[in-house]
Amino acid sequence: MKTLQIGIFGLGTVGSSTVQILTCNRELVERQLGATTQISKICVRDTGKTRTVDTSNSILTSRPEDILLDPKIDIVVEVMGGIEKSKEIIEAAFKNGKHVVSANKDLIALYGKELSELAKQNNCHFFFEAAVAGGIPILRTLQSSLTGNHINKISGIVNGSTNYILTRMEIENLSLESIIEDAKALGYLEADPSADLDGLDAARKCAILASLGFHNLVKSNQVYVSGIRNISLEDIKQANKLGYKIKLLAIAENKKDGIVARVHPVLISQDHPLAGVQYEFNAVYVDGDYLGQTMYYGRGAGGNPTGSAVVGDIIALGRQVLAQTRPDLDYASMGDKAIIDIEDLDFSYYMRLETDLKEDQLADLLSKRDIKIRSIENVNLNEETSDTKKLEKPADKNEFVIITERVREKDFKKSIEELEKTSNSITVIRIEEDI
Ligand code: HSE
Repeated sequence: MKTLQIGIFGLGTVGSSTVQILTCNRELVERQLGATTQISKICVRDTGKTRTVDTSNSILTSRPEDILLDPKIDIVVEVMGGIEKSKEIIEAAFKNGKHVVSANKDLIALYGKELSELAKQNNCHFFFEAAVAGGIPILRTLQSSLTGNHINKISGIVNGSTNYILTRMEIENLSLESIIEDAKALGYLEADPSADLDGLDAARKCAILASLGFHNLVKSNQVYVSGIRNISLEDIKQANKLGYKIKLLAIAENKKDGIVARVHPVLISQDHPLAGVQYEFNAVYVDGDYLGQTMYYGRGAGGNPTGSAVVGDIIALGRQVLAQTRPDLDYASMGDKAIIDIEDLDFSYYMRLETDLKEDQLADLLSKRDIKIRSIENVNLNEETSDTKKLEKPADKNEFVIITERVREKDFKKSIEELEKTSNSITVIRIEEDI
């Protein structure tokens, strides 16, 4: 019986879980493969560090060439993260005829197409299910089960950390800042949480989902992105009163005249399935022309869910290797549509603003700017407004919550500039209605 030899780069949370799953579920893995498996080498920066997995049989190395130049190793697993170094390693693996499994969304969102082409040129397979939404098998679903459809739209909660924060703000009535500290202590946020809070992590996943779902290349730096730092508890409460939840969504749309790829907070109806996705869970909602709408739900981060996707890839890829098939998965190889600027899209908007204008003056100002109001409430007059808030606000100030009718983003932005002159604070959140 053939033995598939595996070399792993990285032994952090995901690497350790991958090793654990391969070890503990060895029989299950090997029976499905029809081959035995061996972790031949694991490349880490510090071979002396204490590890949670058993590495006593001296498989650790700090020299990449011990894996890349070992002719016995069939599959390279890249779970070390980062971009430049990982790219070099994956390229070298392909050039040395090795197949690759990677969990690296940052890298794939920028170089997925180039790397997939290089893999093919070298007759190697390249799988990266773990790069998006961890344990949810969404990439392979887009690349196999749903391929009979034109995918119209993909909307996802693909960043567990920010969904965790928004959920706790709502349920526990807490500020963003207080949960950020707690989330760091609990391991839901990195010490530097910018990639999560500013939406960059979700933008990388959005780029990969759009590229595979629409067969049209979208790179992470083409995704419009805005994070959750400006979302306050007050907005969450006001949105709830109006029948909405606030979520950070990654949204990709395949339109006739181009591709939309955007990550930003949205108000979505409380009745939408994505509104019920709480805490660190992820969900991806896919709309296909014959399929209709489907939703895929689960844990999008953490060692075990992500390791599960890596091991699933090792098995799927290993089967191809054993059957000696040629690589056949393309990365965004069909379309060449341009990216549509968010300023050319229409939205309804939620606005909360503090102003010394009266309601009729405010309505007048907006209407002169062609902004039609769907609803307006002076929340200062609302008896539920907290006493603390009343004290904070000067008596002559009004606080309005407005929902607008749909308007072109670029026109709306111009009107907001005007409003900003009369307002101390203004929060604007797009409403996602076509979902
Ligand atoms: N911080 C990311 C998240 C990790 O919470 O989704 C997984 O990509």
